[in-house]
Amino acid sequence: MANKQSCFVVAASASASASASVHLSGLFYVTLYIGNPPKPYYLDVDTGSDLTWVQCDAPCRNCFPGPHQLYKPKKEKLVYCEDPLCTSIHTIRKHTCGSPHEQCDYLIAYADQGSSLGVLVKDAFNLSFANGSLLQPHLAFGCGYDQQVPSINSPAPTDGVLGLGYGKSTIISQLQDFGLTRNVIGHCFSGQGGGYLFFGDSLVPYSSVTWTPMIRNPSLKYYSPGSANLLFGNQPMDLKGLQVVFDSGSSYTYFVTQAYEAFIYASKGNVCLGILNGSEVGLGNLNVIGDISMQDLMVIYDNKKQQIGWVHADCNRLPKSGTALM
Ligand SMILES: *[C@@H]1O[C@H](CO)[C@@H](O)[C@H](O)[C@H]1NC(C)=O
Ligand SMILES: *[C@@H]1O[C@H](CO)[C@@H](O)[C@H](O)[C@H]1NC(C)=O
Ligand SMILES: *[C@@H]1O[C@H](CO)[C@@H](O)[C@H](O)[C@H]1NC(C)=O
Repeated sequence: MANKQSCFVVAASASASASASVHLSGLFYVTLYIGNPPKPYYLDVDTGSDLTWVQCDAPCRNCFPGPHQLYKPKKEKLVYCEDPLCTSIHTIRKHTCGSPHEQCDYLIAYADQGSSLGVLVKDAFNLSFANGSLLQPHLAFGCGYDQQVPSINSPAPTDGVLGLGYGKSTIISQLQDFGLTRNVIGHCFSGQGGGYLFFGDSLVPYSSVTWTPMIRNPSLKYYSPGSANLLFGNQPMDLKGLQVVFDSGSSYTYFVTQAYEAFIYASKGNVCLGILNGSEVGLGNLNVIGDISMQDLMVIYDNKKQQIGWVHADCNRLPKSGTALM
C-alpha cells in the first residue's frame, strides 16, 4: 500500500498509579478511547493473543469490576458471522454461519486458564498519529460478556486486553488494511513503571537494533525467535535449542526445568530476577520471556519483514524522531 510512514503511540500508564494489585502483578496496560463519545478503557498489552476485547454490558454474565464502566454495545455495531474478520478469529475449527446476519461469537482461552467469551463489534477508536492527526477508524474488537480469571478475588486491574499478536484480527492488522500504518509493533516498558507502545515503523532506530528472524509456528500463537541457547554472563551453558517466545502478557519470565535449574545453580547467593520455573505452571517445553526481562528495552515485532528486534532505550521518553506524540 502506497502510504507514507505513519505511526501512533499510546502512553503506557505507570502501573503504580492504578492500584497496589496492578503494581504487584507488574502489569503493563494502555488507555484507549473507544466509542462515540469516546470512553477510556485500560487494556492489558498482550503480544500473545490477537483479538482486542473489553468487558461489556451485553448484559455481562461474568464480568469483574474493572476501573471503568462496561462498554455498551449497540445493535448496529455488531460484526456479522460472514465478515472476513469473523472468519479470521475461527481458524481452528471450521467456521459455519447459520444465517448471514448471525452475530459473530468469539472465545479466547489464555495460557493462564483465563478466558473471554463474547461477540465481535466494530466501533471508533480515537488514535493520535505521529504526524499530529487524530483519526477515528472503526475497528473490530471483542465485546466480552463472560470472563474467567485465574484469581477470582481480585478486582480486574484493566477493562480488557489489547491483542498484539500476528493474526488478522488485531487492530494493527486492520489499520494496515486501511493503509494507515505498517504492521510493526513496539513496546518500551520502563523499569520505573510506565513507558510507551507504538504501531508503525517511524520510531524504530533500525541501524542500532539487534534483529533476529521471527519464526511462525501455526500451533504457537506467540512471537518467537525460534530456538535459542542459554548464556550466562556471555558464557554458553550446556543448554541449546531451547524454544523461546516473547509474551508481553506475562509479567514474569519462565524457563523450562533444565534451564531453570542450570540458571539457579549458576546464581550465586540470592538474586531476584523474576525468572520462574515454567514446568510448575504447565508451560511444557516453552521458555517465555515476559515483561520483567523486557524492561528498559525497545522491543519491536516487525510483521512486515518478519523479524523481532530489541535495543536498550530510555522508556521514560519517546525517541527524538517522534513528533507530536501523546
Ligand atoms: C476523540 O476524537 C475526537 C474527534 O477527533 C476529539 O474531539 C476528542 O477530543 C477525542 N477524545 C479523546 C478523549 O481523545
Ligand atoms: C497522518 O497520518 C495518517 C495515517 O497515515 C493519515 O491518514 C493522515 O492524513 C496524515 N495527516 C496529515 C496531516 O498528513
Ligand atoms: C520445577 O518444577 C518441576 C515441576 O513441578 C519440578 O519437578 C522441579 O523440581 C522444579 N525445579 C526447581 C528447581 O524448583
